Amino acid sequence: MRVIASAPGKLMLFGEHAVVYGFPCIVTAVSSRITVEVEKVDSGFKIEAPQVKDVRFIEESVRFFKEKFDIKTGLNIKTKSEFSSQYGFGSSSAVTAAVLYGLNKLFSLNLTKRELFNFGYEINLRVQKVGSGFDIAAAIFGKTVYFVRAGKIILPLKINELPLVIGYSGIKADTPKIVQALKLKIEKNKRNFFSIFEEIKNIVEEAKVNLIKKNWTKIGQLMTKNHQLLQDLGVSTKKLDQMCQAATEAGAYGAKLSGAGGGDCMIALVDEKIRERVEKAIEKAGGQVIKVLPHALGVRIEK
Ligand code: MEV
Repeated sequence: MRVIASAPGKLMLFGEHAVVYGFPCIVTAVSSRITVEVEKVDSGFKIEAPQVKDVRFIEESVRFFKEKFDIKTGLNIKTKSEFSSQYGFGSSSAVTAAVLYGLNKLFSLNLTKRELFNFGYEINLRVQKVGSGFDIAAAIFGKTVYFVRAGKIILPLKINELPLVIGYSGIKADTPKIVQALKLKIEKNKRNFFSIFEEIKNIVEEAKVNLIKKNWTKIGQLMTKNHQLLQDLGVSTKKLDQMCQAATEAGAYGAKLSGAGGGDCMIALVDEKIRERVEKAIEKAGGQVIKVLPHALGVRIEK
């Protein structure tokens, strides 16, 4: 017996880093998905996951599930990814979510998304040691969510449009390393960094309201302001700055890096009429435009 499940990648819209310290963030799921086939066999455990960067997320998910639900059968797991792990779309959390959802269906456990999130978050911490869990929430719940660390709040936002351009900087970021490095800096000057986090929090709260109202001009301004605060945290790079600047100069409402910084992607909010112009400007600044859609569906069964 086998089940095929899939989960989306994610992009952070607002509030990265601050979310690690208990402040809120807003994350959107993207249309690139990881598909996982979970098969029950008599014995043994085989993983075939050529595009998965770190198979420990799969191993740990299966170990966790088997222990928790006293499962004794063997399992084969095969994955297929629509996106490269280099973009920072959260392939590890997407694969964790898809494996958990697949196992949930295979063993008819009827777990809620909330329970699956709790498991996924714990697995994430076991493997990676750091992280707010926002990526697991995006992979499981999908769409666009307002999120507070460890799932203290997971609030889906009622939006139906989000015209983003996504540009990859060409550099793979090492998220745990960047989060750790920032932690060391914060320990030396807590007050200064926490005042930046407070400003980021205000941006997230304003963005939450304005995203629902489709107040693009305001959201763009908030994105650009959030980017400046990420520069103040010291996590941006020259390349990301140049790509964001190119996008706004080409007429985007606003732009910011998305994720830990140090590389990965930036996002720009655009009027559809000038999408192409902004894409060209990002490419001219050395970025690679990635054609994925935000606000995608969360984890689901494919077959
Ligand atoms: C990384 O994409 C976002 C961070 O806030 C880390 C996290 O929330 O786990 C930097």
